[in-house]
Amino acid sequence: MALQEFVSELESLCTAANEAFSKAESGDQLEDGRVEFLGAKNGRLKSAQKLLGSVEKSDKPAAGQKLNQIKKAIQAAFEEAKSRLVNAVEDDLDETFDPTLPGAPIRMGRLHPITQTIEELKDIMGRLGFSIEEGPEIEDDWHNFEALNIPREHPARDPLDNFYLATANQNSGQPLLLRSQTSTVQIRVMENTPPPIRIISLGRVYRPDTADRTHYPMFHQMEGLMIDVDVTMADLKTVLRLFATNYLGEDVRIRIRPSFFPFTEPSVEADYYWNGKWVEFGGAGMVDPNVLQSVGYDPETVSGFAFGLGVERLCMRRHSITDIRDLFTNETRFLHQF
Ligand code: DAH
Repeated sequence: MALQEFVSELESLCTAANEAFSKAESGDQLEDGRVEFLGAKNGRLKSAQKLLGSVEKSDKPAAGQKLNQIKKAIQAAFEEAKSRLVNAVEDDLDETFDPTLPGAPIRMGRLHPITQTIEELKDIMGRLGFSIEEGPEIEDDWHNFEALNIPREHPARDPLDNFYLATANQNSGQPLLLRSQTSTVQIRVMENTPPPIRIISLGRVYRPDTADRTHYPMFHQMEGLMIDVDVTMADLKTVLRLFATNYLGEDVRIRIRPSFFPFTEPSVEADYYWNGKWVEFGGAGMVDPNVLQSVGYDPETVSGFAFGLGVERLCMRRHSITDIRDLFTNETRFLHQF
C-alpha cells in the first residue's frame, strides 16, 4: 500500500471518529463510539493499524508516525467528549442541589419502654445485692405448679387460665405450658444452687386474659428470691420499700396487705397509690416450707422471702401510662416519647 493511501485512510478515520464523539449526547452513545473506533478487538483504529504491514518498508517510519499521531487525536477527541458529558450531568445536579439546606433529620431508634424499665429494675436490684437469673418461657408442670405447692386439683391449673401446649414433655410426659408466672425460676435456681440465694429474674409470662386497660395475655414479671438463715418478713418489707422508692420516687405511697399464694406463708400483696386509687403491683411472702422441701432445702435451717412484681404496672405508674395496650401496639408516636 502506498503511503499516501495509508495516510488518507487514517485521516478519514480521524474525521469520522471526531464527528461521532462530538455528536454523542449520552454515555451510551459515547461508549458505542468508543467501541467502534477505539475497541481493542474490532475497533476501526485497530484495523487501520493492521494495514501498516502492507506499507512499503521504506515508508514504514513515516506511516508509523502518522498512525501514532492519529491515535492520539482520536483518543483526545474521546476524552474531550467524555468530560463534556460529565460536566453536563454536574450542571444538571447543580440546579437542584442547595448545599445550604439543612440535612434530613435521622430518626434514631431507641429501646422499648419495657426494655428500658427492665434495665433499670436490674440496676436497682443489683445495688441491693440481687443477681440475675433466667428461665425458659415454655415450662413443665413441676416448675410452674407442683414444686410451688400448687396441688393437682388447684384452680390455678385450669386449662382456661393457662396456655397449655398440645404436646407434653417427651422425656417426663409432663404437660407443658407457656409459664404463667416467673416463680418457676425460683425452683430452677434452688434446684441447682445451695443457699444463700439472692436473685431476681425478669421475663415474659402468659395468661389467656382478654386485653383491656390493665390486662394483656402476655406481660412481664420481676421475680425475686432471697434465702438465707434468719430471713424475715422485715427483710421483705425493707427490700420492697427500698425498691419502690428507688424506682417510683421517694414520695410514692405503697402499702402491703395480707393475701394468699400457695408458695408463700404468710403471703402479701403490694399496692401503690395512683390517681386516687390503690393499684396492686405484685405479690410476695415468706417462702412456704413445702417449697423449700420440694427443692431439697431444710426449712428448719433456712428461710426466705420471694416476690413477683408486674413490670408493666411499674412502668405505667412511672411514666403515667394509663392503658397497658399502648405498650404492645408499637405505635411509633407513642414509643418515641421514651
Ligand atoms: N407468682 C405470683 C403471680 O404471678 C406472684 C408472686 C406472689 C410471686 C408471691 C412470688 C410470691 O414470688 O412470693 O401472681
